[in-house]
Amino acid sequence: MISTPASLVRTRLPKAIQRAKRAAVEAEKLFHRALATVGARQSQSRIAADSQDYWQHQADGKWRGNAHWRDAPVFGDTGLWQKIGAEHLDLFEAGARMCGFDRPWNRVLEWGCGGGANAVHFAPRAGEFIGVDIAAETLDECRKQVGAVCDTPFRPVAIDVADPESAVSRVEGWCDVFLSFYVFELIPTPEYGERLLRIALELLAPGGLALIQIKYSDRRWRTRSRHRAYRSGLAEMTTYPIDEFWQLAQRCGFTPKAVHLVPRNELDERYAYFFLLREPETGES
Ligand SMILES: C[S@@+](CC[C@H](N)C(=O)[O-])C[C@H]1O[C@@H](n2cnc3c(N)ncnc32)[C@H](O)[C@@H]1O
Repeated sequence: MISTPASLVRTRLPKAIQRAKRAAVEAEKLFHRALATVGARQSQSRIAADSQDYWQHQADGKWRGNAHWRDAPVFGDTGLWQKIGAEHLDLFEAGARMCGFDRPWNRVLEWGCGGGANAVHFAPRAGEFIGVDIAAETLDECRKQVGAVCDTPFRPVAIDVADPESAVSRVEGWCDVFLSFYVFELIPTPEYGERLLRIALELLAPGGLALIQIKYSDRRWRTRSRHRAYRSGLAEMTTYPIDEFWQLAQRCGFTPKAVHLVPRNELDERYAYFFLLREPETGES
């Protein structure tokens, strides 16, 4: 009989358990994709209800990590939470220069602002910062983080997943900048993303600039939109091929100016950032 030293059991067993857990998660993902492929998709309203239920109830550290709260265990003292917004601000500034966007940032809106990782970098530059989210507690957290870094007024706009259009009247007027990061991947369906693009166009002043991040599909089966089982696959619910999102934005009335790709980062993979301009009205520059 071969005896296994206790120290080996202590080090190898947890790794084996981790591997087994990862394999189980992958198997579940494939299972749901297979079901969606053979037509067992859930309706948009069912997925929207599951999404509302998930984000509205603050749960554990994993939930706070998913909503990008600063104190979530996943961020610890890695500096990653700060880096998210700092990199997005740099990217926006570079894209704005390239697009010739030089209007003042009187009103900046972030769709799905989460715990404020971007807000703390953009709000100090804005006349007003508008955070739209489906979770009231997350909006409170975002307001707290913004208040800790600047005096810029913070306007929280809580919406229901099923009725994103309700934001339009509550924002009360146009914005100069529309942002959305780490949100389009977890909306119910690609069609829902089209609704958000139309809302973004309506909220932006003529001449305003949107920066929207999506997760892209490289057309492999496992990178397509998921269409079912929200809770077990939040971050892969909705994807678009890059060219299709560009054309979708055009159909919604935007002029796409540029796309920036991040094939992999510390959080996940296959990100594309689109700079989308609402054309100025004739006679306006
Ligand atoms: C991954 S966090 C991203 C937070 C922030 N944008 C960032 O980059 O750090 C996703 C946020 O989107 C919100 N959210 C989910 N579905 C949404 C929807 N349909 N409309 C607006 N916000 C949504 C969630 O409540 C959560 O706060």
